Amino acid sequence: MAESRADSPPPPPPSKTSLKPSLTVTLLSILAPILAVTILYRHEPFDPAPLPTHGLLGSVAAPRENGRMLRGAEMVGAGRMAGPEDVAYDSASGLIYVGCADGWVKRVKANDSVGDSTVEDWVNTGGRPLGLALGLDGEVTVCDAYKGLLSVSKHGTVKLLTDEAEGVKFNLTDAADVAPDGTIYFTDASYKYTLEEVIWDVLEGRPHGRFLSYDPATKETKVLARDLYFANGVALSPDQSFVVFCETVMRRCRRYYINGERKGQTDTFIDRLPGYPDNIRYDGEGHYWIALASGNSMFNELLLKYPFMRKGAAILERFNRRPAMEKNGGVFQVDLKGKPVAHYYDPQLSFISSANKIGDYLYCGSLHYPYILRLKLD
Ligand SMILES: *[C@@H]1O[C@H](CO)[C@@H](O)[C@H](O)[C@H]1NC(C)=O
Repeated sequence: MAESRADSPPPPPPSKTSLKPSLTVTLLSILAPILAVTILYRHEPFDPAPLPTHGLLGSVAAPRENGRMLRGAEMVGAGRMAGPEDVAYDSASGLIYVGCADGWVKRVKANDSVGDSTVEDWVNTGGRPLGLALGLDGEVTVCDAYKGLLSVSKHGTVKLLTDEAEGVKFNLTDAADVAPDGTIYFTDASYKYTLEEVIWDVLEGRPHGRFLSYDPATKETKVLARDLYFANGVALSPDQSFVVFCETVMRRCRRYYINGERKGQTDTFIDRLPGYPDNIRYDGEGHYWIALASGNSMFNELLLKYPFMRKGAAILERFNRRPAMEKNGGVFQVDLKGKPVAHYYDPQLSFISSANKIGDYLYCGSLHYPYILRLKLD
């Protein structure tokens, strides 16, 4: 608006008023954008809510840090998989399962020399497989963002286990773990928004996530915790006393007790993570590995703290003008009590979505990269 006016200012009268037009142009060029933004803001129906303030600001640090985790990292299966979100390992067969953006669950045989690794198209769900967990009988539990909780038999037959709870359908089935008694613990990140609309769920700041269980014997789906701010990764404790699940927007992991005195209760496992947690995995050696999709930053903290800023970001998003806020993605390692052990990240990394320690290597999945990122731990 300011520019078109500036192109055709009224011809200035010859003498002393020559200052005037340039002043008008200057004023207009300042006021027009402000006016435009005000109008856009007032007419924008999207109405973000305040988030709980506890734990929204600041981050914990780990005693060990590697801020350049890409250095020396290798790419497994490069170009042969699209966005392998989760990385599950079957120790019996030595195969790694990944769920890809094109619907494929692929099987990867990773060799010490990355070039010799093989990638096999195993099963296509027709949706978007996210979290994967190995079942008790060689089957693979697949959280399909669009289809719900699936089970793929070892022969490759896909079966829908559940896609709703309490009459509310899942819109973003996200991650799962399987208990030794067969119970599947899993999350629906949001009943309101789908995978493409994740940013809207974050910007809205209302809790649409649920933590659930599915009992294959009774076929019953139960809601164990509700009103979660983007429910994400799930991992059982080795003694089966609790299940940890991630709440991405709140940068925390929570603990739901499944046995013992506190059965049925939920508390905080770790909060103020230095980034936004996606999947979490237990390594069988006393540690959980939490993938951080993006690092925390002062800008992100302000954005989450102030609903008006999220509304502004939503307007930019509508016009495809939201600046990329994701960087410093990586992995956070904690012990069984949730105490920080190590933090691996890199300014260049974003959307790291899973981390699985297999042998001496850390295998990381991501929503976008066409490979598994492998890091030698020593
Ligand atoms: C799930 O997402 C779709 C697409 O945005 C939306 O139309 C639908 O209402 C959502 N489901 C619920 C229960 O909100």
